[in-house]
Amino acid sequence: MQRRELMRLLASAGALPLLAPLARAAAGKDDWQTDFEAAGTRWKTGFATPPDDLPLTRATVRGRFPDAVAGTLFRIGPAGHDLGGERYHHWFDGDGMVHRFVIDGADVRHQGRYVATPKRVAEVRAGRHLMEAFGTMPPGVEPPASADSINVANTSVLPLQGEVLALWEGGSATRIDARTLDTLGVKTWRPDLAGMPFSAHPRVDPDGTVWNFGVASGQSLLALYEIGADGALRRAAAVPVPELPMVHDFAVTARHLVFLMPPLVYDTKRKEAGASFLDAHVWRPELGMRALVVDKQDWERRQVLELPAGFLFHVGNAWEEDTPRGTLIHIDYVRSENADAVFTTNREVMRGRLVKRAAPRLTAATLNLGTGKAVQTELALDAEFPRIDPRRVGLRHRHVVHATQTRPDLPGFGAVARTDIETGRSQRFGYGPQAVVEEHVFVPDGSRPGWVLGTVLDFGRQKTVLSCFAADHLAAGPVAQATLPYALPLGLHGAFVKA
Ligand SMILES: [Fe+2]
Repeated sequence: MQRRELMRLLASAGALPLLAPLARAAAGKDDWQTDFEAAGTRWKTGFATPPDDLPLTRATVRGRFPDAVAGTLFRIGPAGHDLGGERYHHWFDGDGMVHRFVIDGADVRHQGRYVATPKRVAEVRAGRHLMEAFGTMPPGVEPPASADSINVANTSVLPLQGEVLALWEGGSATRIDARTLDTLGVKTWRPDLAGMPFSAHPRVDPDGTVWNFGVASGQSLLALYEIGADGALRRAAAVPVPELPMVHDFAVTARHLVFLMPPLVYDTKRKEAGASFLDAHVWRPELGMRALVVDKQDWERRQVLELPAGFLFHVGNAWEEDTPRGTLIHIDYVRSENADAVFTTNREVMRGRLVKRAAPRLTAATLNLGTGKAVQTELALDAEFPRIDPRRVGLRHRHVVHATQTRPDLPGFGAVARTDIETGRSQRFGYGPQAVVEEHVFVPDGSRPGWVLGTVLDFGRQKTVLSCFAADHLAAGPVAQATLPYALPLGLHGAFVKA
């Protein structure tokens, strides 16, 4: 039968939409997919694509999870890394998969579901990538109709009012049913804010007030949000920031919002010339690292201080104090010398390759709002995924839980640590030579020292393991561990909700 005749018959049978994936599959895999499949590294499981949702499955538990961590750890990360033989070229591109680990003593169950964003639904239906992603421009894609048409909901989660919001940073949050992980649609805070960027790192004050921001790169506008503990929007506005860079995270203090702005600046001309969103950014170290401080009550009151140029994704926390020398804001964050890791390391893992990068360091800075001067100290600790006691957000804190121990043979970190940022003392637990550490969160336990809860990819056994540590005896190792019968793709952020 001639191909034309086959197409006519299929079309008349209503089967034409099937042709696109069939044609693409016949064309074979792209080079990145071929490289990834050929790579001999066992850690590459962390960047593999689960073919489908993962139904609720019981883990094998050693020990007993303490009562304080009875509840649900929600996590999320890029998981849909390839489709129809086409592989994304950046870790951050993939469709989000949201996870819940339901913890009850010696019983732990896990479920994972892809977030059914409009992009994922359309692309799975087509059997191929139809739209651009953060670091990849598939051939022949049209400019997106809106930010939410390329939203992959893959970066973080915010439990709010019984739901879970799956967060990206370029567009809306996506509502997820906390019990079923069903996708419920995008969150629109107010009709005129539909589709506005809403970052993956909102900060929640101890009174439940949610603060967030969004970067509108093309317009050099920084959107600001204040949401009440009841989940209702109180205020939103967009403030102009010249040379607005990529900003992934921020901090709040009692009276201020604090943005550390690395000199990685969006260039509209590059985007118009066909670059991916990531590649439209230019490293401009002459701008330094600008610290933008915004008055929480009056967003028109803003001040900019300067730190040495550097790059960051994540902030641990910030707090402020009034002194005779002026108001001081103390902030800790994870600093890299430059943005090479986002351009190379986080890209090459997608074809199973490791590119060495300078380890990011836990760094403390003090901003003096009176003198306008800022100073910083780098703690001699490599770090990522900093988390603090959620009761101390915006208040003086001592301890930061973070991943640590970069190794030349690992795409990430091999240990979890708890560091006292006042003394620099740190204790850590190393998971051994065949594990990649994911984010660990701090879980409070009344007036007791609390718990540290987090996952690793054990690529030696090809399983994902959830561990719980006594926060003040981290080095003693986990008090309980739950091992899943499978390995999950490496995720980004999570949040614990008590039962
Ligand atoms: Fe993040």
